[in-house]
Amino acid sequence: MPRFIPVDSPVTIELDGDQLQAREGEPVACAVLANDQLIFSRSPKYHRPRGPFCLTGACAQCLMRVDGIPNVPTCRTAVKPGMRLERQNAMPDVRIDLLRANDFVFRDWFNHHEFMAGWPIAEQVMLKIARQLSGLGVLPERPAEARQPAIIEEHELVVVGGGAAGLAAARQLSNRGVSYVLFEREAQVGGRLITGAEAGQPAPWNAPARVGAEVVGLFADDGKAFLAVIEGQRLHLVFYKRLLLTVGGHPMLPTFPNNDLPGVMSGRAVSTLIRRHGVLPGKTIACVGELSEARSLAELVKGAGGTAVAVGAEIERAHGLRAVNAVTVKPGGKIACEVIATCGPLSPAFELAKCGGAEVVWNAQARCFVVQADARGQTVNPTLFVAGEVRGPMSSSAAAEQGLAAADALAGGAGAP
Ligand code: FES
Repeated sequence: MPRFIPVDSPVTIELDGDQLQAREGEPVACAVLANDQLIFSRSPKYHRPRGPFCLTGACAQCLMRVDGIPNVPTCRTAVKPGMRLERQNAMPDVRIDLLRANDFVFRDWFNHHEFMAGWPIAEQVMLKIARQLSGLGVLPERPAEARQPAIIEEHELVVVGGGAAGLAAARQLSNRGVSYVLFEREAQVGGRLITGAEAGQPAPWNAPARVGAEVVGLFADDGKAFLAVIEGQRLHLVFYKRLLLTVGGHPMLPTFPNNDLPGVMSGRAVSTLIRRHGVLPGKTIACVGELSEARSLAELVKGAGGTAVAVGAEIERAHGLRAVNAVTVKPGGKIACEVIATCGPLSPAFELAKCGGAEVVWNAQARCFVVQADARGQTVNPTLFVAGEVRGPMSSSAAAEQGLAAADALAGGAGAP
């Protein structure tokens, strides 16, 4: 019973020949999880089972072959009626993959650069075998569609990310009569305000935004900075004068034995499934890690009809062969569960800021790399501002305050060339 909010007009999709019911437009990964399927593929080297961890397009654990195209991130792909899904990298089947023997034979050591190297015939044979057995899927069954030319845009001020910081900035810019364009990659603005399990966060508010528009790169052409934005299958090259990045972060996977098993998910992935999609990924969910988020997530799990265990405990290892069936925590010992939700801060998504010339430094206290900026969010590049979790772990209220401060600076002319 993973789906606790029923689908009104379900559509049918196909997974390895089986018919599944899904909600049109929801992420494919969500539809697959809602059908009690945790294993999405096998890893290309050790053939260990794989299942979604982040649900934000950051971990590559949910790749499948979709309508004949390999390696599609199913957490970033919307369900369409009749869609055909296939699991990858398994022989003969993702449930009983004979190549999983790799994981037992080479339990402690396997260096593919040295294995049989120096024995010319054995090396050639091994190379041929390895190429057949490894890799990510097989080539697409049809050629790629012809690309349309990019659309060129120019804007004075661009905000990227419609979470707590981005929305606070947008509201302040509107209040001060400053025009801007806000890009949000999800179908709806709100970020963790509508998907997270944080206690006491502000209620979500709205702002005009171009939703479903994902910024995939930041470049400079002849000294003019521009963003590469994918919107509606079309590439937009967005030139700007000033830029505010409020792009948040990526869930961090804690280190523990079996942390790659299907059923190990970030706390935010589990809260997103519950709050946005009405899906409970397992009946019993261990909410481990940072205590206040774990407690809030446990409340969400209970409200959705599930059972929360090991709330805020320190994880020692996950158990299971194909997927999680138990967790060992301190204190508590071994506890049966179907999903392990790892709660804790995100790792800042500094990639765009770095491409824009910002300084990225190691923060020993937060144990992650953060973007350096002054109190107003201005980086060493005077036209580039940052706010929210891209600067380091913080509550959504603190992120909103940073967004507001950055908006005030931008409205006052800071960063003007
Ligand atoms: S990339 Fe899809 S679950 Fe992480």
